[in-house]
Amino acid sequence: MAANKKLLFLPGDGIGPEVMAQVRKVIDWLDNRRHVSFELEEDLVGGAAIDAHGTSLTDATLDKAMNVDAVLLGAVGGPKWDNVARDIRPEAGLLTLRKDMDLFANLRPANCLPSLADASSLKEDLVSGLDILIVRESTGGAYFGQPKMIEDIEGGQRAVDTQVYTTAEIERVCRVAFDLAEKRSGKLHSVEKANVMETGVLWRQVATEIGKEFSGIELQHMYADNCAMQLVRAPKQFDVIVTDNLFGDILSDCAAMLTGSLGMLPSATLSGADQSGRRRAMYEPVHGSAPDIAGKDKANPLATILSFAMMLRYSFDDGNNADLIEDAVKNTLGRGIRTGDIMQEGMELVSCSQMGQALTEELDKLAA
Ligand code: IPM
Ligand code: MG
Repeated sequence: MAANKKLLFLPGDGIGPEVMAQVRKVIDWLDNRRHVSFELEEDLVGGAAIDAHGTSLTDATLDKAMNVDAVLLGAVGGPKWDNVARDIRPEAGLLTLRKDMDLFANLRPANCLPSLADASSLKEDLVSGLDILIVRESTGGAYFGQPKMIEDIEGGQRAVDTQVYTTAEIERVCRVAFDLAEKRSGKLHSVEKANVMETGVLWRQVATEIGKEFSGIELQHMYADNCAMQLVRAPKQFDVIVTDNLFGDILSDCAAMLTGSLGMLPSATLSGADQSGRRRAMYEPVHGSAPDIAGKDKANPLATILSFAMMLRYSFDDGNNADLIEDAVKNTLGRGIRTGDIMQEGMELVSCSQMGQALTEELDKLAA
């Protein structure tokens, strides 16, 4: 692999900094033991950036994000910033990164590791071995459509969000999903509300059209409400799901919880490939900033570590080291080591930093 892979770390708020610190242990390990090195820069995002600069994402930080090979983000937000203006609130920084970096394909895997199958709120046999990948469109739809406003009208106010999609926007995210389905089980569910929404009608039409380029893929259309129901009824019927920004937000939380812990789930958000095949990319855990346990060394760092593994796989084509990290996570859990969020009877409760330490020990064993 080429040297000098440039990374931008944006730890953000709450538990962000402490979980990111555990990724540094993995990076040091890769450097020492596998001769894989990164050039690391760190900057502020979210509430931390509001405190320092008065905005959740400065132009300088955005500029850095645009020019590195990959961004790793911890988490943003917290009660401290609940009352700041909408356009500078912590979440706005995250949405600007997605939009301005044109990161339209948000990949959210939900895997149920065997050692955690009984932590799910669903019956163990429904979720054990579960392996779903949600591909969420992440730069369009109701999140960004214009007009978007609250206006005063007689007797009250009127709020507007606009759900809007173009053929091109649907096409590019569907292509990513079909490509991934091809590398997995060959099954793809395209999810919308074509029974009620015009964007759903177009979505279904475009997905069907793209499907003709992928003759080996079994494409099924499903309404979003039915999908939510099927996810909790019989989740193993799904492999890859492609859907819009808002449905993807909701369905990915739902899929996440099937696995037993939000603290375990990574994600990747990718742009299209440029002529040299390079994609801009941001990786982040699905969980939030968990202000209640922030700074207490209690958080589960595994979602962030697994996000880093996704980075190795998707941004640096390094499946070997990604596999190694994923195996180390499985083995660490297999040894009975647990942070508070996934603690079970008879297991060993550890801190965030101890989990990071245990993981590097497993990496040592695997690499021996
Ligand atoms: C997510 C989050 C974000 C979203 C918030 C923090 C803006 O819920 O990444 O799923 O709604 O996209
Ligand atoms: Mg969400």
